[in-house]
Amino acid sequence: MEMMLLRRRSSAVMQAVEVCCPVLAIASVSLFFVLCFRDRTVVVNRTVVGGGGWRNLGLKVEEKGRRFHEECDLFDGQWVWDESYPLYESKDCPFLDEGFRCSENGRPDNSYTKWRWQPKHCNLPRFDAKKMLEKLQNRRLVFAGDSIGRNQWESLLCMLSSAVSDKGSIYEVNGNPITKHKGFLVFKFRDYNCTVEYYRAPYLVLHSQAPAGMPAKVKSTLKLDVMDLKSSRWRDADVLVFNSGHWWNYEKTIKGGHYFQEGKEVKMKMSVESAYQRSIRTLFDWINREVNMSKTQVIFRTYSPVHFRQQWNEA
Ligand SMILES: *[C@@H]1O[C@H](CO)[C@@H](O)[C@H](O)[C@H]1NC(C)=O
Ligand SMILES: *[C@@H]1O[C@H](CO)[C@@H](O)[C@H](O)[C@H]1NC(C)=O
Ligand SMILES: *[C@@H]1O[C@H](CO)[C@@H](O)[C@H](O)[C@H]1NC(C)=O
Repeated sequence: MEMMLLRRRSSAVMQAVEVCCPVLAIASVSLFFVLCFRDRTVVVNRTVVGGGGWRNLGLKVEEKGRRFHEECDLFDGQWVWDESYPLYESKDCPFLDEGFRCSENGRPDNSYTKWRWQPKHCNLPRFDAKKMLEKLQNRRLVFAGDSIGRNQWESLLCMLSSAVSDKGSIYEVNGNPITKHKGFLVFKFRDYNCTVEYYRAPYLVLHSQAPAGMPAKVKSTLKLDVMDLKSSRWRDADVLVFNSGHWWNYEKTIKGGHYFQEGKEVKMKMSVESAYQRSIRTLFDWINREVNMSKTQVIFRTYSPVHFRQQWNEA
C-alpha cells in the first residue's frame, strides 16, 4: 500500500509550477517540519512520516478554529498568495549556491516567492526560526536525496540562519564550501549545538561498478537491495528527510549505462518503475531495521517541481 501511495505525485507540490530557487521549497519544507514535530506515525498520500520521540514540542496545527486532529490531511489544500512572504531574501543568506541566487542573478520577478501552502481544513503555524532552533538543540537534522532535497536543505539553512545574528557561528564542520559536490555537507549552528546536514544520494541505494563480465553497455549498476554507503551516517539523525524520484527515469539510468542489480544478478530487462519501487522497499526495510523510530522522525518525499526550465526528464 505504501508503494502505491508513494507513487502518487503530490498535487500540492505539482501546482507550484516553475521552480528555480530554493525559496520555492520553503512552503514544502515548513509543511514537512510541522509534520515532523508531531508525535506519531502517519501515513498519508504521497508522503510518509514516521517516528516518535519528540513529544510536546509546542507546535500546534490549528484546525480552522479548533485543535488539529487526524482528519486534517495536510496535503489536501492549495498554494495561496501571501504578501508577507518570502521568509528570507537570498542576498541576506550566505549559505546559498551562486546558481540558486535568482534575484542576484538577474531574475526580475519575485512573485514566485510569495506562495504559502494552505491545507483545506486546518492552518499551519508560520515558520519560526528561533523556535525551531530551540527544538533542534543538540540534535541532527539530515536530508538525503537528490538536488531537490538539496534545495530544501539550503532553503532551511537560510530560514534558520535568519534568527542568528552572528552568521560566523554557523559553519560547515569540515570547512567545505557549499558549491556543487558529490559527498555531504554538515552545517553546525554553534550556539544550539545542532547540525543540519545534506547527503547527496539521488537514488538512495548504492550506485556501484558493474560486475565483471558484463556487456560493454553496462557501465555501472544501481544495487536495488543495498543502501547507499553514506546511510551509516543517517541512522542516528533526529530528523531524517529522504527524497528520491527525479533520477528514476530512463535518461538517468539505462540510457547512461546504469543498469539495475539485485544480489549478484544484473536485471537487463527490469523497468525503471519496478526498480524505483524495489529501491523504496530497500529504504523501508532499512528504516525498519536500522532506525530507532522512538528517537528519529522519518520523512519520505517523492516528486517535486523540478528546477529546470526544460521538460522534467531533459536535463
Ligand atoms: C488518498 O487520496 C485519495 C484520493 O486522492 C483518497 O480517496 C484516499 O482516501 C486517500 N487516502 C488516505 C489514506 O488519505
Ligand atoms: C551536541 O549534540 C550532539 C548530537 O548532535 C550530542 O551528541 C552532544 O552530546 C551534544 N553536546 C553537548 C555539549 O550537549
Ligand atoms: C531508542 O530511542 C529512545 C529514545 O531516545 C531510547 O530511550 C532507546 O534506548 C533507544 N533504543 C535503542 C535500541 O537504542
